[in-house]
Amino acid sequence: MTLLAIETSCDETSVAIVRDGKILSNVVSSQTKLHAEYGGVVPELAAREHLRNLIPVAKSALHEAGILIGQLDAVAATQGPGLPNALLVGFKAAQTVAFALQKPFVGINHHEAHLYSPWINEFEKIQPNISLIVSGGHTMLVLMESELKHRVLGSTIDDAAGECFDKTGKMMGLNYPAGPEIDKLAEQGNPAAFDFPRPLLNDASDDFSFSGLKTSVRYFLRDNAALFADAQKIRDLCASVQTAIVEVLVKKTIRAARRNNVRCVTASGGVTCNRALRNELQRACEKNGFTLCLADKSLCTDNAAMIGILAERKLLQQVSLPSLDEEIKPGWVLA
Ligand code: KG4
Ligand code: ZN
Repeated sequence: MTLLAIETSCDETSVAIVRDGKILSNVVSSQTKLHAEYGGVVPELAAREHLRNLIPVAKSALHEAGILIGQLDAVAATQGPGLPNALLVGFKAAQTVAFALQKPFVGINHHEAHLYSPWINEFEKIQPNISLIVSGGHTMLVLMESELKHRVLGSTIDDAAGECFDKTGKMMGLNYPAGPEIDKLAEQGNPAAFDFPRPLLNDASDDFSFSGLKTSVRYFLRDNAALFADAQKIRDLCASVQTAIVEVLVKKTIRAARRNNVRCVTASGGVTCNRALRNELQRACEKNGFTLCLADKSLCTDNAAMIGILAERKLLQQVSLPSLDEEIKPGWVLA
């Protein structure tokens, strides 16, 4: 089965061609430079940029895969959650292609696509696991019992971990998105230099909260303005903030895995590119005898391949599909 997938939920325009579980192409055009000037994603600009980029990106994806549009067997797109106008561009384009070709159309939940991205190429190996989905828009823990059978255990009650990286980075004067920059600067910083709260670390729930940590960094910078002049202190600050975020993510993930008696932990979403998070998850899983399965870095941030691969699995398993009249679901919550 050959499938074209589109992802436009936020600030990446992406089109992928997948065939029989393999990624033939996965073209991502990132808008981060455009939004950096504003310190965050501007929804209207994101939608306009998707409109501008979608056809060239789709042409590149088809060309790279060596596929003609008439050879497609199905079309998929992100249906939600995401920025409404941004979602609309990719979703309606995908429905139109499906309509013109008279082929099935699959609408995919963006978080569900992240959830399955560690298993791309090896869906048959799925075993019960606890999955940490950690991105700019969400942070959640999911119990996956088997393929397409999963349940959300907890979510962020305010900011997502990626948002905390981006907003604290902005306060330090770093460009959007600040997560990758904090990752780099933290490498040469002292993680014990400054002490920040670990919100909900010992809370009985599997929920997360990062807004308190963000606020404490704001007050810390207000009270220590001289720190901006010292590059090493900024590196120490990055390392200290990153350590607080990573400690909460790792400890709560391991605790959920123990409680639910699974032997496997997975992680996906943009923040899973973070080297400290990858290393600490690895260390904690080894210590507790869990297998760790991380999404490949190229598939952690938003991309259409994860949408296409999951859509193909759903088609194969004959999960009921949305009609071509169906609309986007900007607030679609993964259950
Ligand atoms: O999954 P994603 O591409 O988009 C959403 O679905 O939100 O995640 C983007 C987020 C941003 O907040 C970005 O700062 C963060 O992932 N991110 C990182 C790193 N790379 C991307 N955060 C920390 N360290 C990184 N290396
Ligand atoms: Zn995402």
